Formats: sequence, structure tokens, C-alpha cells
Amino acid sequence: MKTITSITEMQREAERLRAEGLRIGFVPTMGSLHEGHLDLLRLSRRHADVVVMSVFVNPTQFGAGEDFTLYPRNPERDARLAEDAGCDILFSPDADEVYPPGASTWVQVEGPDAILEGTFRPTHFRGVTTVVTMLFHMVKPHHAVFGQKDAQQALIIRRMVRDLHMDIELLVAPTRRDPDGLAMSSRNTYLSESARAEALAISRSLRLAQRYVVDGGRDAQALLRMVSDELTRTGALIPDYVALVDTDTLEAIERIGTTPVLLAIAARVGKTRLIDNTILRAETIES
Ligand code: PAF
Repeated sequence: MKTITSITEMQREAERLRAEGLRIGFVPTMGSLHEGHLDLLRLSRRHADVVVMSVFVNPTQFGAGEDFTLYPRNPERDARLAEDAGCDILFSPDADEVYPPGASTWVQVEGPDAILEGTFRPTHFRGVTTVVTMLFHMVKPHHAVFGQKDAQQALIIRRMVRDLHMDIELLVAPTRRDPDGLAMSSRNTYLSESARAEALAISRSLRLAQRYVVDGGRDAQALLRMVSDELTRTGALIPDYVALVDTDTLEAIERIGTTPVLLAIAARVGKTRLIDNTILRAETIES
């Protein structure tokens, strides 16, 4: 595995690979890798000749008072895991090079960036879409892979790629869960044993929702009440939102039908904020 830190070197390498007719797959991450990230890498591997993974803790997607400085960083372990999972190029640019002094350009997908996560993290998606655009210009990928766990992020990036006519295919990998059901996240390392046990209410409530639909339940309000009750049962979990929305527009829906809908949850356990989701539809259920 090659390691690149210079943006120019990454761009020259990408041009060289493209000139050879090779397909570049791209997995953007903020590091602190877990099996969920490695699933993205493996999916990319199946569709590309060369897989680039970036590790960059992007300062602009953290709001004031969020965990930018605390965000877990483990470059040696990340490099080992990435290489073992089949990464060809690990790209870790410097923050000063990505955001040189005076940088003042933003890429923003207005509308879907202001709801759900956007209500609680108003500048978050602007930071994500800006850095992802820059990374696309650096890595020049044929495809890029994102995780279903960040469903709103995947939708917003899809919208950005469409609106800006970026010639990049997007792939979305299913959420990887620990055996107890908790969706894998770099932020899970913040959880104490007891907080982790409380956090399991999130995946449990998603399973309850799936069961409700399998059993014929169709009413959005009843489903949302049931999920909220499960989340707040012990009082340890504070939901930021529980929403049942259209998977394309993120608009709230009233009844569950045969078109897929997204059940999205954000909740805090102590100081840790977790998100999770599932897709529901009348006949079949995905996790
Ligand atoms: O999903 C993430 O880890 C980040 O939001 C991303 C896409 C790498 C942008 O910094």
C-alpha cells in the first residue's frame, strides 16, 4: 500500500492511473477505522482496479463545541487495517494544505442540509460537501463509497453529484453492526460500558419498527410513538429526533406504503451523540 500526503502527488498519481485506463475507487473516511469502513473498502475493491482511502478529520464539519479535538485518531492502526483490507493508496492530506489560509469557498446542498441532522448541526453538511468535493478533485475517482448509517449524508452527496454534474458513481454500503446490534461508529469508543448498554435501545427500537411494519402496521405517528417510547424508557437516552421520511426528499410521511421510507434516529447518551436508521417498506424490510 502506498501512502500519500501531498495533494499534488495524489492528483498526479490519479492522472497516471486514469491514463493507464484503470478504474479508481474511493472511500473517504475520518479514520479511526472499524469493520464498517472496511466494508466500504471491500465494496469499492469489487468495482475498481485501484482503491484509494482517505483519512482526514475534516475540521469544517464539526460545529462549535463538538468533538473535533477529541475525535479518535489512530493513524498507525488505520494504515494496518486499510492495507489488510486491500487498500492500494492511503491518502492523508494535511489540514493546512486542504484549507490554506484565506480559503473561503463552500459547496452547499441547500434544503436537505437544513433538516434532521442539519437542525442540530447547522454547518455540518456544508463542511462535508465542501471537503468531499475537494477530495473528489484530488483523487479523481470513478466511484466513491459511503455508508448507509449516514443516510442523510449519502443523500446529500448524491444530490451534489447530480446538481454539479460530477462524473462519479456513488455506491452505498449497508450499516455494519456489532453482534449486540449497535451500529458501528468511530464515536462508539466514547461510550462507557453502561452508556453502551443504554445505546442498544436505538437498534432495538429500529427492530421494533421493522416488526411493526411486518405485522401490518402502516401508521407513521403510531410507529414514531413506539420508537420514542423505547428510546426514552430508562431516561438515559435523549433523542434529538426520530423521523420517518421519504428516502429521496427527506420529507415526513404519514403512512408506510410500498415505496421505501427512512426511519432515522439521533440520540444522546451522556455526551455521546449517535445516529442510526433503517429503511422500511410495506412488503420487505432492509436493515
Ligand atoms: O462520513 C465521514 O466519515 C465524513 O463525513 C466524510 C465523508 C469522510 C467527510 O469528511
